[in-house]
Amino acid sequence: MLSPTRAGHQQSRKAIMDKKIRVGIIGQGRSGRNIHVAALRRPLMREKFEIAAVTDLIPERCNETKAEFPACTVYPDYKAMLQDKSLELIVNASFSYMHVPISIEALKAGFHVLSEKPLAGCVADVDAVGAAAKEAGRVFAVFQEARFDSTFNKVMEICNSGVLGRIVMARFTRNNFARRWDWQTLREYTGGAFLNTGSHSLDQALKLFGDVMPDKMLCSIQRVNSFGTAEDHIKLLFTKPGHPTIDYEVTSCAVFSPPRYQIYGEFGGLTANPGTIEWKYYKPEEAAPQHLIKEPLPERKYCSEKLEWFENSWKDTGSRGADWMGEKLYMNLYDAIRNGAPLVVRLEDVRRQIAIIEECIKQYENENKK
Ligand SMILES: NC(=O)c1ccc[n+]([C@@H]2O[C@H](COP(=O)([O-])OP(=O)(O)OC[C@H]3O[C@@H](n4cnc5c(N)ncnc54)[C@H](O)[C@@H]3O)[C@@H](O)[C@H]2O)c1
Repeated sequence: MLSPTRAGHQQSRKAIMDKKIRVGIIGQGRSGRNIHVAALRRPLMREKFEIAAVTDLIPERCNETKAEFPACTVYPDYKAMLQDKSLELIVNASFSYMHVPISIEALKAGFHVLSEKPLAGCVADVDAVGAAAKEAGRVFAVFQEARFDSTFNKVMEICNSGVLGRIVMARFTRNNFARRWDWQTLREYTGGAFLNTGSHSLDQALKLFGDVMPDKMLCSIQRVNSFGTAEDHIKLLFTKPGHPTIDYEVTSCAVFSPPRYQIYGEFGGLTANPGTIEWKYYKPEEAAPQHLIKEPLPERKYCSEKLEWFENSWKDTGSRGADWMGEKLYMNLYDAIRNGAPLVVRLEDVRRQIAIIEECIKQYENENKK
């Protein structure tokens, strides 16, 4: 039998575990409303989180959430929200250039914080948020939900299974043809395709690349179709011995798009788009033995052999929107807040991503000054 103190301790621990995390969301735009409210209204999320407060510079943007969650408080601004000590978690879905200052303020006020991507435009700012989280002893997470994408995770599983052998090169693309004229095209808003949609693909590419910075990077950036000051076309190659070459492309001027993921392996390859993957490989142990021949081949022949290919395909079932990936991220965040579990998307991952983007944009801006 448990001692009365131990039983009491277990009961209060259970009470904390059962307590929903009260969430305040800053921003009710495409992300705050269409992704975060959408994720948190999912049945599993309602058991763990409660949308308790919202705010937006445009107050009417809070109306739909208030109508859907009547107990939710609408604050006139985020500073008023940060006075509400009944909240535990602040979701920062404001403009990208506000992610760092608002997150630091919220951490200092004692809240756990989930910031939308891109966390920052430079590594110094990533470090400033990291230091604020450490000092406050609060969980700080970045909403890089593409890390939970089912197709990406299946691609990783296939690569890690070894059937393709050593991964030689991985191509990540996120392409379309579109013109854009909103604040996301402005450098001063920490906009631009690299930090915006590009941060999802770079996060995935770095996961496959490994926990290191590349030795060499070659990047070409352009602004083509968008109306602001930031880029909308990025081609980036990076390498490090012992790691796959990464070929990364994010552009809004591709009328004909290549597959989202393409993997070249020692024994085979893979091609994938959201929801579908095809891969094939040969088994080296079953292939005809070959050896190097230095002399010209007899009868002027080329090296030719018939490899037996093993082919596979995978299709995703069900809908896999940002709210679905968001749910996975929120589950991990819940576990981090309540049980001290490690975050899947670590701040050091985000730091590496921002370091690469910062360096590429610096090179681009220096070249364009000449
Ligand atoms: N993870 C994803 O897949 C994803 C998708 C879309 C947007 N985002 C990110 O979410 C952020 C918001 O983008 P969006 O597309 O929702 O933009 P948006 O323009 O649709 O919405 C932003 C909202 O935030 C409000 N806002 C800005 N600063 C505020 C402040 N200080 N206090 C209160 N409200 C404030 C604005 O009034 C606006 O309603 C961006 O950083 C963007 O990169 C991420």
